[in-house]
Amino acid sequence: MSSIIGAPLDRVIGPQKVSGTAKFAAEFRLPNLAYGVIVTSTVAAGRVLRIDTSQAELAQGVIAILKPGNAPEIDPKGSENALSLLQDDKVHYNNQPIAVVVAERLHQAQYAASLVRVEYQEQTPKLDFLAGFPDSHPGSHVGSPGDKSFGDFDAGMRQAEVKIDQVYTTPIQHHNPMEPHATMAEWQGDRLTLHDATQHISGVQETLAKVFGIPRENVRVISPYVGGGFGCKGTPWSHVVLAAMAAKQAQRPVKLVLERPQMFGPVGARPRTHQHITLGAARDGKLTAIRHETHAHTSTIEDYLEASVFPTRLMYDCPNISTISRIVPLNLGTPTYMRAPGVATGTYALEVAMDELAYELKMDPLELRMRNYAEIDPETKQPFSEKSLRQCYQRAAERFGWSKRKYEPRSMRDGHLLVGWGMATETYPGRHMPANALVRLLPNGRALVLCGSQEIGTGTYTIMTQVVADVLDMPPDKIDAQLGDTDFPEGPLSAGSMTVASISPVIQKAAEEVRSKLLQMAAADAQSPLDGAAPNDIGFKDGRLFLKSAPAKGENYSALLGRHGNQPLEATAGSGEVKNNPSINSFGAIFAEVSVDPDLCIVRARRIVAVYDVGRIMNRKLAHSQFIGGIVWGISLALFEDMAVDPRTGRVMNANLADYHVPVNADIPEIDVSAMDIPDPHLDSYGARGIGEIGITGTGAAIANAVFHATGRRVRDVPITPDKLL
Ligand code: MOS
Repeated sequence: MSSIIGAPLDRVIGPQKVSGTAKFAAEFRLPNLAYGVIVTSTVAAGRVLRIDTSQAELAQGVIAILKPGNAPEIDPKGSENALSLLQDDKVHYNNQPIAVVVAERLHQAQYAASLVRVEYQEQTPKLDFLAGFPDSHPGSHVGSPGDKSFGDFDAGMRQAEVKIDQVYTTPIQHHNPMEPHATMAEWQGDRLTLHDATQHISGVQETLAKVFGIPRENVRVISPYVGGGFGCKGTPWSHVVLAAMAAKQAQRPVKLVLERPQMFGPVGARPRTHQHITLGAARDGKLTAIRHETHAHTSTIEDYLEASVFPTRLMYDCPNISTISRIVPLNLGTPTYMRAPGVATGTYALEVAMDELAYELKMDPLELRMRNYAEIDPETKQPFSEKSLRQCYQRAAERFGWSKRKYEPRSMRDGHLLVGWGMATETYPGRHMPANALVRLLPNGRALVLCGSQEIGTGTYTIMTQVVADVLDMPPDKIDAQLGDTDFPEGPLSAGSMTVASISPVIQKAAEEVRSKLLQMAAADAQSPLDGAAPNDIGFKDGRLFLKSAPAKGENYSALLGRHGNQPLEATAGSGEVKNNPSINSFGAIFAEVSVDPDLCIVRARRIVAVYDVGRIMNRKLAHSQFIGGIVWGISLALFEDMAVDPRTGRVMNANLADYHVPVNADIPEIDVSAMDIPDPHLDSYGARGIGEIGITGTGAAIANAVFHATGRRVRDVPITPDKLL
């Protein structure tokens, strides 16, 4: 393996992004393009009685108005998700798409949309989360059951000498990537081309083909750059199909971009959670029982389970663990995966409960984690594929200076300010998905690597380049990586921190095949200085083959290909079905310092130290960005983010980036991040597990625990805003 793996290579698409030449979905130019604007409901439950479009139709530039009754009939069952596709008059949540206006220009479509008048037959919406608990039901998350128990919880509680029994709550959150959802749809006969902001081009392709009843190969989805996804662009939502329906109706290509307020409701959210945690422990801190019961909301049309209980099954060595998940249907848009789905909210609750247990035991919170260190997976009793969490705790504690912490709450100060230090454990599963890729060496000395996955901002183009550079030993600037086109070999969804672990092995395999073809070509070429060489005696360096026994003897790849008809050399590779091992898991330790103004109760994060155990690091610079991105979001979970719903109308009251608070640079302290960088021997290829999500896990708890340490006040409802500390 060459030193390019792990190297802090700059993003290879950096220049395109900063110069504005990287084209995002809404930025492609199509001839004869029309603009679509969605009209959404202003009530949360009931029926649309009448949509009066008479004024809107007279407005300048209007081409078509789609509504129930005149919209193209499609097969809504073609979508895995319950979409709002104007096939009936039912309203299930506020801000649900109920019509689409298409016009020559964007401002014309917006103005005409404002003239659409809607009459509803309203029903009383279900919006009271707690009141909905009796109507709740079990669920599953990506096929894994939400309920699972092992050992005997009640027996474990009888052995317990110390108990914690508390409820922790987290609010609804919205993804809000900088690039809003956007789709451009163009029909040519029964062939559809979409430019879409998506984390899964082949998923969009499949859904659109099914919904319109056309062969999958008739749908092409193009998405070379995506301005952030975080889960909300993981599956196609209503607007993607509506754009294609509008293009069909208007017989023109149509561009449809969601307005920022439309990002709150119709395109997923992190659901609200209510997590009841019971811990039992012996006096020495050893856990005897854990129970974690989560209630989370979903919509009335579809189940989504926020699997907050999953991390509880593997975090600590405890023989008796009981986990229960319940979903509460409400008249809100269907929630979905959001960065570290389940794990972000679940580690918040579990790790605050552990801090409470430490204080009940008068024990250092880090010491409590060490006493319950899980050497093996407590559920499967299998060894973890690779786990160096103990070293993460030690290294992070040392870098943070944890040994200097005064144990008592309210015991540390900086002038007038209260200072608190808190810590938590982090975790995320290490999974992968089927993938295919193509590597092509060109006679001009460049190489191309294609994969039908997509770049959501994490650095996929760069990692692809590094893998080819590693195998073919070529300078990265001679390699062109391409993503985001369903015409390429099918690649995975960009989610679940799975991209690198999924695509690296197949790119490596394809590049190795190209290398072996080169080698055979050279060894069988009378004109090559390597003629007759044994495969083991041929080396590769900087785009050149050479004889290991006499390195001066060799030639460039391009010279060799030049003599063979100037033809490219290519290979494709695929992983077929992949099997995920539940004991492949990442971990981390995070320590946080906060200050709290004792008069104003304003909390500020002052310092964060985190150390991760995530397998091999493929690119130190990109990894650092992923970790700190996650941590910033964890700070947001602890202190800022909170979607507010009007309890009468289900209207989101802060559906904009001014009122929906997210941290800005001034809210973010120094973040010291490092990784163990130990390859996972149970993964193919480089042994890199995912890093996109783990940073948000544990962070909320570390901050909340630091707030307790600073103030002596235990706030169990995030975000910890000043009113909750008064
Ligand atoms: Mo991520 S929430 O798995 O896109």
